[in-house]
Amino acid sequence: MVKIACIGAGYVGGPTMAMIALKCPEIEVVVLDINEDRIAAWNSDSLPIYEPGLDEVVQEARGRNLFFSTDVTKHVSEADIIFVSVNTPTKTSGIGAGKAADLSYWESAARMIAQCCKGPAFKIVVEKSTVPVKTAEAISKVLRTNGDSSVHFEILSNPEFLAEGTAVSDLTAPDRVLIGGKEDADGQRAVKALADVYAHWVPRAQILTTNLWSAELAKLTANAMLAQRISSVNSISALCEETGADVSEVARSIGMDSRIGSKFLNASVGFGGSCFQKDILNLVYICETQGLQKVADYWRMVIDINDYQKQRYVERVIGGMFNTVSNKKIAVLGFAFKKDTGDTRETPAIDVCRGLIADGAKLFVYDPKVEAQHVHYELSAAKFSWDHPKAPYASASRLSSVSVVKDPYEACDGAHAICVLTEWDEFKQLDFPRLYASMTKPAFIFDGRNILDHAALREMGFVVYALGKPLDPFLRKD
Ligand code: UDX
Ligand code: ADP
Repeated sequence: MVKIACIGAGYVGGPTMAMIALKCPEIEVVVLDINEDRIAAWNSDSLPIYEPGLDEVVQEARGRNLFFSTDVTKHVSEADIIFVSVNTPTKTSGIGAGKAADLSYWESAARMIAQCCKGPAFKIVVEKSTVPVKTAEAISKVLRTNGDSSVHFEILSNPEFLAEGTAVSDLTAPDRVLIGGKEDADGQRAVKALADVYAHWVPRAQILTTNLWSAELAKLTANAMLAQRISSVNSISALCEETGADVSEVARSIGMDSRIGSKFLNASVGFGGSCFQKDILNLVYICETQGLQKVADYWRMVIDINDYQKQRYVERVIGGMFNTVSNKKIAVLGFAFKKDTGDTRETPAIDVCRGLIADGAKLFVYDPKVEAQHVHYELSAAKFSWDHPKAPYASASRLSSVSVVKDPYEACDGAHAICVLTEWDEFKQLDFPRLYASMTKPAFIFDGRNILDHAALREMGFVVYALGKPLDPFLRKD
């Protein structure tokens, strides 16, 4: 029986391994983590991450050929294929601070693998977490110099392209599976073994094999280009507001050009999530270290525009509300970085809420899937601190200017404004006449996701800011 171990039971490791176990009943899959609470949650009825359809996948495979454990060394030593999906935080000090990836969790995982694997054996180590280009080379040196000489370690890069909220469907029918490996016989033996796993449910034509560095760079480039599309449309949203054009109409028009395509053209208050910013920063740092400053500057602008968009939104809110939100109650609808996830990592809500708090606002946050402690943690923690095995979400101290409530009507009761920061479907179904009646007048809505019916809201009496759309005369400064 082929045995797979995965180090890291996070947003990538957990769902990916569950899908492999589901589709390959004859393969034993063990997902490992040093975080005991996380493993306990994976073994319970309340999984540590919210992902539509994931409960069913886990329930079918768990206990059959899918296991979650903290006994890392035992299962790694027994595995034929070892996936590594650990944290790769952005460095906050030293060389490359604020840009480069901190590979210390990766390195310690590699040292542990080297120490517990005994030969003779052929072990495949698979990079699953996004890492800078050439990480495989560094890791293979750690394995070679620390391991039993009768164990052959072969490194593969198998980046994951799933998006949160659609992880199960992305894993069930991926656009492609990418496997990078060395071009020699051992490399190709390992590539074939991993391709055979995916071939249980993914057509062979969609399993791409490349060299190691191409696979590593393809992952960074895919995320950078997706983020670039959002920053491009967001930059145009600013111009639309000044000129009276409508960003949705512009996006629809350009999206019908088959060379451009219609996806990832929704203007928003900014992109978030654990990957986009981190991966672009990685790309920027790699370019800089290769002496490619112009290329680094080009990609850096994608992040700069994202920061600008969040700041612009804050200025619209404060500017629209007569230049101050001091002591005004503001309802924040949505805190997750996108709908259908409870994930708050790098959510645009962080910078927006901080900007409003700095001007004295009293925030009432409602999100259907985000826990109160996560909101308080994100608003008080240092930049990049979330990306560590035990980010102290539970011990975050409560901010006096932020209340997290379980009911959107409570969040809006008496509020001066509603800020929509996540595109949850349920926000479209709210009883807006009821909300309007309960709010302080003039009642503002700042739709940072363009999901509401703006004309209907204006009919009801709301002053509406819709991102990238002709500005409501009430909000004009002149
Ligand atoms: C992303 C990549 O899509 C995925 O392939 C990779 O494996 C991990 O990073 P994820 O971060 O989970 O996935 O979500 P994604 O759907 O890409 O959204 C990222 C951010 O962009 C969200 O904040 C989302 O709201 C925002 N977004 C997305 C927009 O603002 N406009 C769009 O048109 C699309
Ligand atoms: P991703 O979004 O890429 O899946 P996460 O941060 O959600 O990343 O998950 C990474 C996981 O890796 C965390 O649960 C963390 O506890 C775990 N981890 C980090 N280092 C180790 C290690 N040396 N051994 C086992 N698990 C680890």
